[in-house]
Amino acid sequence: MAFVPYERPVRAAFIGLGRIYDLNVRAYLDNPDVEVVALVDPSEERREQRHGDWPRAATFASTAELAASGIEVDAVEALLPIPLHADGVLELLGYGWHINLQKPLCNDLLDAQRMLDAAKASGLVLRVMENYLFYEPLRRFKAVFESGELGTIAGYHMKMVGSGSGGWDIPWSSFEWQIEQMKRSRGILVFDDGWHKLSTALWLFGPVSEVRAWIGTTSFGHGIDLDAPTMIAWEHANGVRGVWDITLAPDLYLRSDYYTNDERWEVTGSKGFASVNRCTGRGIQQPSLEVYVDGEMRGHHALDDDWASSFRDSGRHWLRWLRTGVGPLMWSGEEAVDVLRFALAAYASSAAGGVGVSPGQVV
Ligand SMILES: NC(=O)c1ccc[n+]([C@@H]2O[C@H](COP(=O)([O-])OP(=O)(O)OC[C@H]3O[C@@H](n4cnc5c(N)ncnc54)[C@H](O)[C@@H]3O)[C@@H](O)[C@H]2O)c1
Repeated sequence: MAFVPYERPVRAAFIGLGRIYDLNVRAYLDNPDVEVVALVDPSEERREQRHGDWPRAATFASTAELAASGIEVDAVEALLPIPLHADGVLELLGYGWHINLQKPLCNDLLDAQRMLDAAKASGLVLRVMENYLFYEPLRRFKAVFESGELGTIAGYHMKMVGSGSGGWDIPWSSFEWQIEQMKRSRGILVFDDGWHKLSTALWLFGPVSEVRAWIGTTSFGHGIDLDAPTMIAWEHANGVRGVWDITLAPDLYLRSDYYTNDERWEVTGSKGFASVNRCTGRGIQQPSLEVYVDGEMRGHHALDDDWASSFRDSGRHWLRWLRTGVGPLMWSGEEAVDVLRFALAAYASSAAGGVGVSPGQVV
């Protein structure tokens, strides 16, 4: 069934009104492409808090109540805890709503197939949002090396330092489902936050043919096992090799309006290199993008490097897409499966002692 764009503002509902709603909502505010008609969350406190943003929207404790209300909904912004993604998506599709789902898609390929099959059978669109692809320093970074000014690409490095000091408050309820995820070997660093790093690698250099990983664990008690120190290396089908290391520095203070994660991307070419020096956190006061060629360093000081803007732009892209049907979804359900396969290949490699695993072969 071909998608037919909406010739009027999209009627949208938020499903899940927790921590990340604060950033996803930015795409919906002052956006003539959308009318927010409903808000859903079992937490009465969250419903009351978010109702202030959308006084004309109806609020519900469950999606079943929204579906039974007779309110017309075209698309939903699904901001559910990861363990609820698979069944949640099936339920939402069952009501006939297009979905913009927060990443990660889900924990395994069986659930991914169920979700994709259901979307296909219903003729509805399942998008898996990836805000990092809309972060201006990363977009400019991509444009720099694609312009050829760094010469031939020789390698690619990502670095993540998770810290526990600084940033915004995270409710304990969010940790509860993350601990559930940790018990299923889907850790917060490699799988949840790491999803973005794997996505950006695929976006920047294309399909991955082989992954080698060494995934560690650091226990903080009470079931909190963080998946670091970790090193993951891979080769893209185009021959470019990437490497990503995750380190924990629990007492390192990091200035941040959001999460405290020092994130870095660096690509080295035959003539120079470019680096993105931050994303979620503000880190030290370097330009967010630097380019070194021919003995000169160029710093980009005027990019929109507020991480929240990437949520605004990703969500606006989705809403515009629903109005026009034009262009890539960034990401489609199928592209999200590629990210999942990349993660699963890393787990399989680590479990087998670091051997090379092809994401196309994981089951
Ligand atoms: N893109 C990013 O950088 C980014 C950052 C953080 C979180 N996330 C993702 O966003 C999603 C939500 O994370 P969060 O940090 O906001 O979690 P959270 O725990 O703060 O919020 C989840 C909300 O969903 C509600 N909820 C639970 N069951 C529900 C149901 N059946 N129907 C409706 N609402 C329900 C909870 O009451 C809660 O308010 C996760 O998939 C997470 O991985 C993405």
